[in-house]
Amino acid sequence: MNDVRLPVIADAQFARLFGTAPMVVSSAHGRVNLIGEHTDYNGGFVLPTLIPQATVAAVAPSSGRRVRVWSRELSADASLRAFHLGDEEAGQGWLDYVQGVTVALRAAGFEVGGFDLAVASDVPLGSGLSSSAALEVSVLRALRRLFDLDFDDVMLAKIGRAVETDFVGAPIGIMDQMVSSLASVGEALFIDTRTLATAPVALPAGTELVVINSGVAHHHAHGDYRTRRAECERAASMLGVVELRDVGVADLGRAQALPSPLDRRVRHVVTENQRVLDAVAAMRANDADALGALFSASHASQRDDYECSVAAIDQLVAIAQADPAILGARLTGGGFGGSIVALVRTGESPAAAARVAEGYTRASGHAPTVLVP
Ligand code: GLA
Repeated sequence: MNDVRLPVIADAQFARLFGTAPMVVSSAHGRVNLIGEHTDYNGGFVLPTLIPQATVAAVAPSSGRRVRVWSRELSADASLRAFHLGDEEAGQGWLDYVQGVTVALRAAGFEVGGFDLAVASDVPLGSGLSSSAALEVSVLRALRRLFDLDFDDVMLAKIGRAVETDFVGAPIGIMDQMVSSLASVGEALFIDTRTLATAPVALPAGTELVVINSGVAHHHAHGDYRTRRAECERAASMLGVVELRDVGVADLGRAQALPSPLDRRVRHVVTENQRVLDAVAAMRANDADALGALFSASHASQRDDYECSVAAIDQLVAIAQADPAILGARLTGGGFGGSIVALVRTGESPAAAARVAEGYTRASGHAPTVLVP
């Protein structure tokens, strides 16, 4: 990932939109989760890493309390969206992610003045690669510098998550904002989402990643993600624990007495937490085969126990798993569509990704996009 090229917002373009030059330009990457899915809102473990794709936020202060926003991807031509600080109102599409930032900052005790903001992103939307976290983190970084706000990167992640949980209304965990705010490109970040302790972990020697967007978009602000989260909370209360994090593999017997589908939901979360710990151990021991097997076991658990996959993703994962250069593959992110991540022998990722994408196109009729390499 030496060839990371950030999207560019030219000063001249910013000036055309807002009549002034940007004062601060910040960026934040999207992420791919290696393993540890649907564990973060259960107080568990996750192991995401940054992808080269990123969002760039350019800002300049403006007088008064007006905020004007332009998105290279989502605004038509030079048309600006606007709102006033204190008058934020949800229900305005992508603008909610910016309104949510000013609301969440205020709720956390940080005051900002009016500003003009231009964003550009090459993190694909709805692909399970955290385009929303990249937007929140890039804008928060820009505003932190512009208004000299005093908070650290963990606090930044918490504010970013509040944008979604408290304003947008998506009941997510904290993985995406944590990795986008704290990780460095090229390392995976082990996160204990209960304590927010983090540790960088490198891929086993001789391996690299492939990330492919299935072309089937996910929507987790509503529907299935919310249902799964509620199922976990119900299971935790029936088991008498604060969060499913508190159930270990040794306690699974008791969890299996829960009514269906809670028994399977718990089995996914509990075994997935253990797989994250096993994955960290495999990476530290340079055991590529063990890590690949954990990827594939995680996919089976998502498919069969957590039921957060869809047929097209299962097909894409199966094609990847059958590829001779691939050691393991799984659905990544919130699920119900989105992207897959695969572990590949070094040097083989471009060819393997092309083979898998082609096989999947032929078999499914969907249009995949190779995002890594
Ligand atoms: C989405 C959420 C995360 C996490 C994953 C599933 O990406 O934003 O908090 O719950 O789904 O692991």
